[in-house]
Amino acid sequence: MLSIIYATLSGHNLELAYYLKSQVASWPIQVTVEDAAAAGVPTGPLFFCPATYGEGELSDEGADFLTELSSRQFPHPYWVVGIGDQCYGDDFCGAVSFADQTLAAAGGTRLAPPLCIDYELSAEVKEQLNVTLEHLKESILDQS
Ligand SMILES: Cc1cc2nc3c(=O)[nH]c(=O)nc-3n(C[C@H](O)[C@H](O)[C@H](O)COP(=O)(O)O)c2cc1C
Repeated sequence: MLSIIYATLSGHNLELAYYLKSQVASWPIQVTVEDAAAAGVPTGPLFFCPATYGEGELSDEGADFLTELSSRQFPHPYWVVGIGDQCYGDDFCGAVSFADQTLAAAGGTRLAPPLCIDYELSAEVKEQLNVTLEHLKESILDQS
């Protein structure tokens, strides 16, 4: 089962998670979308979509989820992709980079470089997501 988990305050990363779900709907794998505030530790491949607040930090729900997940080994494929805001300069999508590093340190297998999205799901961003998903597809289906 592929888990798509988002951490959001104002909904952009929820929208991203459901966009990813719609794009993998035809894959021969079960897919769930969950809020990090309520999600358990995934037992298979993970797409994590964390919002960035503060100074490049995860939201509280995102941080709690990641702490729980990294308190044990996470021997699964993962990809971190999130929406932030480039106006925040060096802190742009800090949560995305942090989550990517944390999951790698917990034993996860990075499926693709972390992807930082500036504010909204434009047609150009959707195309970029679709290209990455096409690359990820085989690895995920092979390993699940
Ligand atoms: C108080 C505050 C702090 C923020 N800090 C950052 C930041 O450090 N880096 C970043 O990329 N975006 C930052 N943002 C922008 C949010 O990440 C952006 O609005 C994003 O779409 C929120 O995601 P969400 O709608 O899923 O909660 C900040 C927004 C607010 C309101």
